[in-house]
Amino acid sequence: MPGIVLIGTQWGDEGKGKITDLLADQMDIVVRYQGGDNAGHTVIDGSQEFRFHLIPSGILYPHIACVIGNGVVINPKVLIEELDGLESRGVSTDKLLISCNAHLVMPYHLILDGARELKLGKSKIGTTHKGIGPAYADKTSRTGLRIQDMLDMKIFKKKLEIVLKEKNEILTKIYDFEPLDLDKIVTDYTGYAKRLEKHIADTSLVVNKALDESKNVFFEGAQGTLLDIDHGTYPFVTSSSPLSGGACVGVGVGPKRIDRVIGVVKAYITRVGSGPFPTELDDEVGNTMREKGGEYGTTTGRPRRCGWFDAVILRYANMINGLTEIAVTKLDVLSQFEKIKICVGYEHKGKVYDNFPPHQTIVHKCKPVYEEVGGWMEGLNNITNYDDLPKAAQEYLARIEELGGVPIKMVSVGPKRRQIIFKS
Ligand code: IMP
Repeated sequence: MPGIVLIGTQWGDEGKGKITDLLADQMDIVVRYQGGDNAGHTVIDGSQEFRFHLIPSGILYPHIACVIGNGVVINPKVLIEELDGLESRGVSTDKLLISCNAHLVMPYHLILDGARELKLGKSKIGTTHKGIGPAYADKTSRTGLRIQDMLDMKIFKKKLEIVLKEKNEILTKIYDFEPLDLDKIVTDYTGYAKRLEKHIADTSLVVNKALDESKNVFFEGAQGTLLDIDHGTYPFVTSSSPLSGGACVGVGVGPKRIDRVIGVVKAYITRVGSGPFPTELDDEVGNTMREKGGEYGTTTGRPRRCGWFDAVILRYANMINGLTEIAVTKLDVLSQFEKIKICVGYEHKGKVYDNFPPHQTIVHKCKPVYEEVGGWMEGLNNITNYDDLPKAAQEYLARIEELGGVPIKMVSVGPKRRQIIFKS
């Protein structure tokens, strides 16, 4: 088994945290490989609810080592708050390792993220304002500061001095902000460094050694396939690669290390932020999905846009991630509807696209081609066997499998850990 990647097949918020948490007890290591505190995973453990932004969900299991890989951008202040929050609730964070190569989110990244969005006005991306885009931009332009720079504050200060000159010019001259103070940032980051130092490691080596020893490593994707910087609905995307391939680069392992790729598929679609969404429902059905599904952002609290399930997206996600199986989440939310629609293609200028269209304009302007199936109109929360699901629900799932071309292995029917059905 040992290398398993879990990814979101839609625009994020598919319920990856719950599936990670479920499989975690069989794992030795859980690794995050991209994104930053723009992500939000909710895990319900007994009567307690935990919300994670940077720390992998496996942290709730004492036997698991959790790793934040090099591909993640880390706001150290947020990470420390998260660590302190867990410790105060009795969860040990001793087994958390942070890659020395991961990039830091700096105070100017946060300001620039918000300022750019404001300038874009109606054309804004709808980012989480966590500084993610600017941090990845600096990484790519080779002006980023890394976790390892915090291990030598002299180097950190030298690098920051050069970068901050340019950032302050941008902040003051383009955005009319006050300049940031070098010494204040150095003082703050010196404090963060002291707190985080014991967690910093060569995580690529740790993960590869574990794989050599046939340990089970779980690569936990954040966001989702259509938010991928290359393959998503650009520019309405995040700035990293949430795909299965991103796990190799974002941790430092070869592709042959990956044995299973689990795609998490919400039984309907949601999206936060701007950008095209062919099956979006701006009506009572969409509102019901939002309310029954609790579709509000974990990180920003924003209401999520909701719509019918889209098989074009699943086929695309299957193709570019090489899915070996899928986990369908929130099936119970659809218990509200007498009729359920499944999008099987996009129609644009008389042509029907079965595969995700190559041009963004088509995604913006297409009309979904729907198939309608009967609903089941009964609660699913207490069902634990696949065969006990209402016939209509089984038919809905079978159609998803067929259209996506990938087998279902898990179905989630409620937020609690036990509300899961395994399918052979
Ligand atoms: P950023 O990642 O904050 O730059 O935001 C870019 C886009 O990705 C926006 O549309 C966000 O709403 C979306 N996004 C970022 N993180 C998540 C997530 O964890 N779930 C869902 N959408 C996200």
